[in-house]
Amino acid sequence: MAPRGKKVLVTGNLPKAVLADLEREAEVTFHPEDRPMGRDELLGLVGDIDGLLAMITDHIDEELLDRAPLLRVVSNMAVGYNNIDVAAATRRGVLVTNTPGVLTEATADLAFALLLAAARRVVEGDRMVRQGRFRFWAPFLFLGTEVSGRTLGIVGMGRIGRAVAKRAAGFAMEILYYNRHRLDRETEEHYGARFCPLEDLLARADFVSLHVPLSDETRHLIDAKALALMKPTAFLINTSRGPVVDEKALVSALRRGVIAGAGLDVYEDEPRLAPGLAELENVVLLPHVGSATTETRTKMARLAARNLLAALRGETPPHPVNPEVLAKRSGKL
Ligand code: GLV
Repeated sequence: MAPRGKKVLVTGNLPKAVLADLEREAEVTFHPEDRPMGRDELLGLVGDIDGLLAMITDHIDEELLDRAPLLRVVSNMAVGYNNIDVAAATRRGVLVTNTPGVLTEATADLAFALLLAAARRVVEGDRMVRQGRFRFWAPFLFLGTEVSGRTLGIVGMGRIGRAVAKRAAGFAMEILYYNRHRLDRETEEHYGARFCPLEDLLARADFVSLHVPLSDETRHLIDAKALALMKPTAFLINTSRGPVVDEKALVSALRRGVIAGAGLDVYEDEPRLAPGLAELENVVLLPHVGSATTETRTKMARLAARNLLAALRGETPPHPVNPEVLAKRSGKL
């Protein structure tokens, strides 16, 4: 009997050239739409697949993994992989991969776009002009908050946090950072960033920008208590994952003037918003588009495909999340 070809399921839309790369090496089923694949449809398609190229809207959990006995790799088209139960995948010998690096600059750009938009009331101003409410220039019309020379607190000084620091240097900002592990002195000097315990950072920063992965440690890292430590003139920017912030507490803080404003690209229960959030003027809201440039999404798709194909060939993919699976497999050989 001829050996069975590899089967791959792609749950989102990909550039044609990337799909063609996958199709050269596997039989591909894909979901050519810009809405998530429904849970039942997804569960119905995983029974005989070897590889899954997943989006962050797919929940890869025990139930799904149990229905996919042949699965060897889940390639997430994202740097964050909190949508995947990695421990459950590891237990079953399923490799998980992600796409770090290629989206760093685009995501840092968007964090800065939100920071500037919130501080200078860009979206509020746009609404006013469109509604025909701009009648004349006035000295106190639409006053915002100065960005240049202010203090930026970066929470999570990984690739994206560092890219945000580079941008902040161009705005002559003082840069404080908090990270699980302090960076070495040379790296701190390179980014002109000073390490600071989280409580101090929150109390001193004019802008707090979040760049941590979502984990049990970081869930609700910014809760009512943390928000209360921030200055009433300060802004919170979140381009990481929604559940890092207690969104209900944030709505209350924004409403009561505990902080001045926020710029959000991610939400606790995406795509739903906490009640009252959309009614607030002092918050800029984006639909999870941190990495959404044509260039970056193309690079992410290519890297996700490279990860997947390498894993199916039995090679080490560029970005394994649980490399212990590979070690175990080679140990068995
Ligand atoms: C997007 O949110 C990502 O994690 O890449």
